[in-house]
Amino acid sequence: MPVPMLDLAPQNAAVKQKVLDGIGALIDRSSFILGDNVRSLETEIAAYAGAKFAVGMSSGTDAQLVALMALGIKAGDEVIVPSFTFFATAGVVSRLGAKPVFVDLDPATFNTTGALVEAAITPRTKAIMPVHLFGLLAEMPAICEVAAKHGIPVIEDACQSMGAKGWGLNAGQFGEMTAFSFYPTKNLGAFGDAGLTIIREDEDLYYRVKRLRVHGMEPIYVHHEVGMNGRMDEVQALVLRAKLDMLEVWHEGRRKHAAWYHGRMKELAADEALMPLEAVPDGRHIYNQFTLRVPGGKRDALQAHLKALSIGSAIYYPICLHEQPCFADLGYKKGQFPESEKAAAEVLSIPVFPEMSEAMLEEVAAGILGFFGRK
Ligand SMILES: Cc1ncc(COP(=O)(O)O)c(C=O)c1O
Repeated sequence: MPVPMLDLAPQNAAVKQKVLDGIGALIDRSSFILGDNVRSLETEIAAYAGAKFAVGMSSGTDAQLVALMALGIKAGDEVIVPSFTFFATAGVVSRLGAKPVFVDLDPATFNTTGALVEAAITPRTKAIMPVHLFGLLAEMPAICEVAAKHGIPVIEDACQSMGAKGWGLNAGQFGEMTAFSFYPTKNLGAFGDAGLTIIREDEDLYYRVKRLRVHGMEPIYVHHEVGMNGRMDEVQALVLRAKLDMLEVWHEGRRKHAAWYHGRMKELAADEALMPLEAVPDGRHIYNQFTLRVPGGKRDALQAHLKALSIGSAIYYPICLHEQPCFADLGYKKGQFPESEKAAAEVLSIPVFPEMSEAMLEEVAAGILGFFGRK
């Protein structure tokens, strides 16, 4: 039986009628940008994350960019970001003329730590942007402690991790601001691009983010600063609102599959494949990705083996950001972030979407076990 990496059709079928009804009402009202649905979604997601304010944005990338702009990040500033993440985390820093300063990761979590961040701080550091990769929180208490000691604001990149928890708190309750993405492959996915910026409690930052979203304009046609067009549209907001009720069930579905994989593949040795860990105290991994480590240079062969069995998999991410051609002028060298480079060579994400049947999970696990000569 073929198993795709991700199949969005079943979850979208579950909300189809509600969305069609919503779009019908939207066409009747014909108000398509920053309307009632966006405002309601902002209230609902602020409550979901346990934060004071939320601003609906056009994408996760723009949700990060606007947060940096609200902090006044500019040319000459440094922003600390992980090297092993999706490109946007560092791309938004460069777009403001600032310098992404890369840090390595903790191999147990794929995320950066307080100690790694502290070692990268200089007098030019103006923000720290840890990423909660794959659905697991970074070491936020330690990172926030270091940030507070140096008086540097923290922006959480929770683009893959809305709903993740750790140390008794939610993604979005640690940093001054947090970016969420609703790209369709996320646990809460729109029907296109969308994102949202959480502002934990600072009302001034909230008004700044809102104004920057619409070209720095307040009131209409008075521009206080050069902002952006980062507006969320009503169709995306109504889709996200229709899905929000189901999000907890979907998170738990992914977690159930993760536990099943752990049980079924427990005989695999550490030098064959390592399963992702629930390495955060008092927390919850939401498994936007279920990412294995395949050491010993066998990752690509395992992926080819799965492909031959029509089983989907993906490599997030094959090249670290410090090795990307566009950042060559920053002067980083191969070997500088050994754990990140090792992760890029070893990771393989396998299907974990909530609607998978046990037969599909078995197909994936049997494919992996078969590759290592197990049953
Ligand atoms: C870690 C991370 N940061 C930022 C983004 C950017 O989000 P978007 O694709 O919605 O712009 C993503 C999404 O893919 C992401 O995974």
